[in-house]
Amino acid sequence: MNRSSVKELLQSDKFLHEVHVKGWVRTFRSNRFIALNDGSTINNIQCVVDFENTNEALLKRITTSAAVSITGTLVESQGKGQKVEINVTNLEILGDSNPDEYPIQPKKHSLEFLRENAHLRVRTNTFSAVMRVRSKLSFAVHKYFQDNGFNYVNTPIITGSDAEGAGEMFKVTNFEANKAPLNEEGQIDYKQDFFGKETNLTVSGQLEAETYAMALGKVYTFGPTFRAENSNTTRHLAEFWMIEPEVAFMDLDGNMDLSEDFIKSVLGYVLEHCEDDLAFLDQRLTQEEKSKPQAQRSDMSLLEKLRFVVDNNFKRVSYTEAIDILRNSKPNKKKKFQFPINEWGADLQSEHERFLVEKHFKCPVILFDYPADIKAFYMRLNEDGKTVRAMDVLFPGIGEIVGGAQREERLDVLKEKMAALNIDEKELWWYLDTRKFGTAVHSGFGLGFERLVLFTTGMSNIRDVIPFPRTPQNAEF
Ligand code: 4AD
Ligand code: MG
Repeated sequence: MNRSSVKELLQSDKFLHEVHVKGWVRTFRSNRFIALNDGSTINNIQCVVDFENTNEALLKRITTSAAVSITGTLVESQGKGQKVEINVTNLEILGDSNPDEYPIQPKKHSLEFLRENAHLRVRTNTFSAVMRVRSKLSFAVHKYFQDNGFNYVNTPIITGSDAEGAGEMFKVTNFEANKAPLNEEGQIDYKQDFFGKETNLTVSGQLEAETYAMALGKVYTFGPTFRAENSNTTRHLAEFWMIEPEVAFMDLDGNMDLSEDFIKSVLGYVLEHCEDDLAFLDQRLTQEEKSKPQAQRSDMSLLEKLRFVVDNNFKRVSYTEAIDILRNSKPNKKKKFQFPINEWGADLQSEHERFLVEKHFKCPVILFDYPADIKAFYMRLNEDGKTVRAMDVLFPGIGEIVGGAQREERLDVLKEKMAALNIDEKELWWYLDTRKFGTAVHSGFGLGFERLVLFTTGMSNIRDVIPFPRTPQNAEF
């Protein structure tokens, strides 16, 4: 007999026929009611065990998280809270779960405790909802780009370049620790290493994506990205997934339009396709907010926040305007910022970004035209000679969710910039080739996928929206 999913059965209105499901016991009440879940939906199906000759030994094995196979009749439910239930005619234990050892009890656990049990936490409502939403979001990302004529490019994970120039790279080497051969200058001789040169895990696929945009026109990457920055924050991972579109013949205005349209589209998709999970996460957040002091509570629920972003224009503000706003802001004058804003040129910290978004504009903000000195080498220099065509999209509760730019397409200007920053032309000869052979205006951005999932699910720590987080001092599982 064909196995149905819990989701299918909960939506069914064909009663009194025999059905078959497999799943895990969430709870077992009164020696009679099993709440069964198989991962297809946040909702459990109630299975009523009412054997004529109750088998005590079998009942004892119906414990939280035991895997079971159930055959029974689908009936309209007598109880409250569910439309249908299964009258069990046959129950088989597929895998026992010892209740004395199983760490996830049917009660509220702290997120910290669940992080230590990351291999089991997806069995809870919260994490299963987050991970289903994550999956749908990633589908929506591909759907958006595929529907709009973009080509998916898989850029390398092992590279020889530091695309962001921030030096936050994990080395990739085949040398044994302490046994690396040295060259005549007494430095490690990477010529003898696996790739014949120094290599690292990628911090961004952008530079390679640019070369593809110069032939395929519109491309995007969506892959693992690594940063060895020692940031123990709720928004940083050492291993995360980045989405990087890159488009030929598109300037910064087009880039801002694309980022806004893209974000609205994927959020719209999950609002439509993850109703149950988002409703659950909305409730969860509302509960959590109640434990906060009134002043810190958000005045919007999760669903309201998502709809607000989809329905409203992002505010576009130049860096220079933002600095004026920040300089004259209350927290700056009252010295409440950890990093006070004194002058033009200051790098913006998360506290400033969040002030602009959450307190001042109260909507997503796109900041553009940043000082050249605080941005990467590849951004296009403006006529003023001191700002570059950079853009960051800032989100409430998150801060920076997107970083991007119009790229410097002029070979001479790019070379000058690289020389000033001591970036070896020989290392990036292939990147410079795109400026030699048919160069064109082009732009792109990077969106941190986990920050998007964080916003969409209303979770507050980025470690809770990726299955197995990698952070400083933590690579368990
Ligand atoms: O601003 P970033 O460093 O930009 C780039 O890497 C560009 N090459 C992108 C491009 O133009 N193609 O990173 C882009 C985004 C950030 O806005 C943030 O959302 C995310 O990547 N991000 C991180 N997410 C989680 N953990 C980290 N350690 C992150 N670092 C960046
Ligand atoms: Mg950035």
